Amino acid sequence: MRGTRNPAHASGQYLIGGDLPVYRLGYGTMQLTGPGHWYHPADPDAAKHLLRRAVELGINHLDTADAYGPQTVEHLVRKALHPYPPGLVIATKGGLTRPGPNRWEPVGRPAYLRQCIEMSLRRLAVERIDLYYLHRVDPLTPLAEQLGVLADAQQTGKIRHIGLSKITVAQIKEAACIAPIAAVQNRYNRTEGEDDVLSYCEKYGIAFVPYKPLAAGALCRPERAHDAAVTPAQAAIAYLLDKSPNMLPIPGTSDPAHLEDNTNAAALGARPTTPGDSGTAMKPVVPLHATDEGKDP
Ligand SMILES: NC(=O)c1ccc[n+]([C@@H]2O[C@H](COP(=O)([O-])OP(=O)(O)OC[C@H]3O[C@@H](n4cnc5c(N)ncnc54)[C@H](OP(=O)(O)O)[C@@H]3O)[C@@H](O)[C@H]2O)c1
Repeated sequence: MRGTRNPAHASGQYLIGGDLPVYRLGYGTMQLTGPGHWYHPADPDAAKHLLRRAVELGINHLDTADAYGPQTVEHLVRKALHPYPPGLVIATKGGLTRPGPNRWEPVGRPAYLRQCIEMSLRRLAVERIDLYYLHRVDPLTPLAEQLGVLADAQQTGKIRHIGLSKITVAQIKEAACIAPIAAVQNRYNRTEGEDDVLSYCEKYGIAFVPYKPLAAGALCRPERAHDAAVTPAQAAIAYLLDKSPNMLPIPGTSDPAHLEDNTNAAALGARPTTPGDSGTAMKPVVPLHATDEGKDP
């Protein structure tokens, strides 16, 4: 597969929020920092090269966050890829602060979230963020207030679609009363994760973006009964692509060889790529509004 152009395309397409097409196999940028997801990577030029290579491989869904570094990775994305190629979807997140390496603290106060959005717009050099996640629900701030900031930003054109991260079905339902939810990002891989959120996302046409799809590297170790034609990482990614047409894995790596390896898994869990094909990878999205909630058992 190494010589294939755009190998990511083999994963099939999905319409985020019903109108934003991405190839299902994306790339998560969290590994492009120093140790502890803190500060700069040892070789920023290599990180920029890796981002450009991801796009060359046909990946058009990049997942980042203001918290990676913090700020480091959003800057790297801009420096590596701006002006952005047509069709590149950059998802970012706000609401998780970084007191130090490996430390993450949610802050969902409205004034802070508004500032997060403004600063991500500036760092990414975009007028509108394609997909903006509430990185964590802050338990000290009502969810309605946190979502209200994202809904306002959507209405004023600063955000195209809204996502939620580390979330339960009950919280998705609550949030969806305030704004349409286009994507959910939860920890999910072959050995971890809750299927109830995935099922809910399938039912309502919400993209399910599994974070830590390789269990933070644990699923990349060689297994005893190992198919030599497929690496353990590829098997883990193919499992996810095959699991659901709503599944948009974003494996993370800072290693160019691993990026190639992971992207070549796209063909292993392939789904139909053409709208209207029977596989429903491009199935119409059912908008999730407050009125739908009453119908939900
Ligand atoms: N919403 C959230 O709260 C949240 C939380 C965590 C992550 N995320 C997002 O999800 C993305 C993926 O999660 P993740 O990066 O934490 O974990 P992951 O994708 O499960 O695993 C990444 C780890 O696997 C290793 N790896 C990747 N490909 C490999 C391969 N082919 N062979 C061997 N080792 C390989 C990487 O090391 P190398 O660098 O050496 O390849 C890295 O240590 C992140 O980048 C981020 O965008 C979101």
